[in-house]
Amino acid sequence: MCGIVGYIGYREAYPIIIKGLHRLEYRGYDSAGIALYDKGLKVYKKAGKVSDLENFVKDINLTGSVGMGHTRWATHGAPSDRNSHPHSSGDRKLSIIHNGIIENYGVIKEALLAKGHVFKSDTDTEVLIHLVEDIQTETGLDLLEAVRITLNKVIGAYAIVIMSAAEPDVLIAARKGSPMVIGVGKGEYFVASDATPIIEYTKNVIYLNDNEIAYIHRDKLLIKNIDNTVQTPYVHELDMKLEALEKGGYDHFMLKEIYEQPRSIRDCLRGRIYPAQGKVQLGGIKDYIEKLKNVDRIIIVACGTSWHAGLVGEYLIEEYARVPVEVEYASEFRYRNPIITPKDLVIAISQSGETADTMAALEIAKERGATIFGICNVVGASIPRITDAGVYTHAGPEIGVASTKAFTAQVTVLTLIAFYIAQQRGTITQSKLVEYLTELDEIPALVERTLLCNDHVEKIAAQFKDSNNCLFLGRGSSFPVALEGALKLKEISYVHAEGYPAAEMKHGPIALIDDALPVIFIATKNSSYEKVVSNIQEVKARGGHVIAIVTEGDVEVRNMAEYVIEIPQTDDAFVPLLATIPLQLLAYHIAVMRGCNVDQPRNLAKSVTVE
Ligand code: G6P
Repeated sequence: MCGIVGYIGYREAYPIIIKGLHRLEYRGYDSAGIALYDKGLKVYKKAGKVSDLENFVKDINLTGSVGMGHTRWATHGAPSDRNSHPHSSGDRKLSIIHNGIIENYGVIKEALLAKGHVFKSDTDTEVLIHLVEDIQTETGLDLLEAVRITLNKVIGAYAIVIMSAAEPDVLIAARKGSPMVIGVGKGEYFVASDATPIIEYTKNVIYLNDNEIAYIHRDKLLIKNIDNTVQTPYVHELDMKLEALEKGGYDHFMLKEIYEQPRSIRDCLRGRIYPAQGKVQLGGIKDYIEKLKNVDRIIIVACGTSWHAGLVGEYLIEEYARVPVEVEYASEFRYRNPIITPKDLVIAISQSGETADTMAALEIAKERGATIFGICNVVGASIPRITDAGVYTHAGPEIGVASTKAFTAQVTVLTLIAFYIAQQRGTITQSKLVEYLTELDEIPALVERTLLCNDHVEKIAAQFKDSNNCLFLGRGSSFPVALEGALKLKEISYVHAEGYPAAEMKHGPIALIDDALPVIFIATKNSSYEKVVSNIQEVKARGGHVIAIVTEGDVEVRNMAEYVIEIPQTDDAFVPLLATIPLQLLAYHIAVMRGCNVDQPRNLAKSVTVE
């Protein structure tokens, strides 16, 4: 939520910053702005996308080797030029970019107003920079110390970068609750919300920790805690490829990421399954085998698409490992005084590893003595750093705001965890494990085959692109797949869509069915097939349009449905991994046909670091 990037070194800062902002635009795209030091602090900002900012500055000669930029997802104050970042102090000699929310900004603002400060925006961020200015005016302290004192006075979450005309060779960066990475080059440093703007310049990064503040000079980096103790940073080496951040010939990142799924699932499985031996190996949680053998209950906390993956995980873990599972929206869990004991295992699922509600839910679980695991995609993010153990999804950077490959990778990890626990607890026989893992090993190839439905799905999308509503129905582990299909469609095409357990349809949604309503069934050949067939009849009897995801070769549903989309035959356990694919494609094509911005749907952000 909000992307921030900064540069200090020997190169021109503007091209680095603008490219970085494009890479971070998935975090928010309500407005964008930059500050550069070139014989004074120059600030340019504009409501709209990063490209609007580029147009705005295209005739200006932007030079300077120190600068910072921001792409915004609005919290305090509507998206507008004046609410865009960077924000400046009253004398315009200080400038700040910020990701997060300053909760006590109202009180601070009152006090500053009483001292004569004049504010130009409605944001919480502007208050911060006026406070730094106020402290410097009163005390004469340098920038680092004034920022440190400021941060001791604020409540809330932040990742900030500050520049000062009085100290033009310095960037100050700090974080609490919002991510911040520092790239370490030779005679240059980079700062950013994630590593994507940094990767093409250096692979050496430092993840700033909460309550740390960095003084960044071209040739010197000093990191302190806000209580003034000097920290010794650890330099990590990034394992990310630049191509992963490009569209690679696809029209949209979302389509590229849908097509990457055979690869991303394969990467997720690599080194973790040994089909011939019937063995799952999960290095990230291997020290918790005893815990897993004796665990009483597993609670999964997540938001959005990750929550849907959690629901699939519930089916898998209960079915194969026979451990009771509860799946909770992190935002609800954290505020309802949940009952958690040290015998519980709490698993957070988060693509970004930064979602504020999921972090807070984990912190509560930790305080109450539970063991906490993470299933995350972004290596080194905040969630994997606070958990006891975890399993990375290894899907690679996901840029499209609507999650696709991260979802199937999360489901893959949950499948592995289900079998891993089953293996430890002896709830599946060895021979069955050999069978399951042999089939799981085939899933990347089956996903590849499923993707061949793309042209057919595009034709179906053309038929229903103007529908205003859509219903997605499934049973068992296909119910969360229905939820995910509905979410994809609403997120990127702005079509009202609901996912429902097929059997629940008769308790409400059936009233919606008429000849304008497409109803998408996940009707694969598995244990609930006959029951889903009955539900299809119920929709048909009321004139609804039935589109069904079926198992290759299915005849019965083909004779009933208006359209069928075939997926390869697989075990019940793996149906979600295949059935999700056509639903992602359907949402994608409908969104394109409706002229929507697929990769940057309105109002959404990929990483939600505010509650
Ligand atoms: C946002 C994104 C969703 C994502 C959710 C949870 O809403 O737009 O795609 O599922 O956050 O994010 P996380 O990074 O925790 O999986």
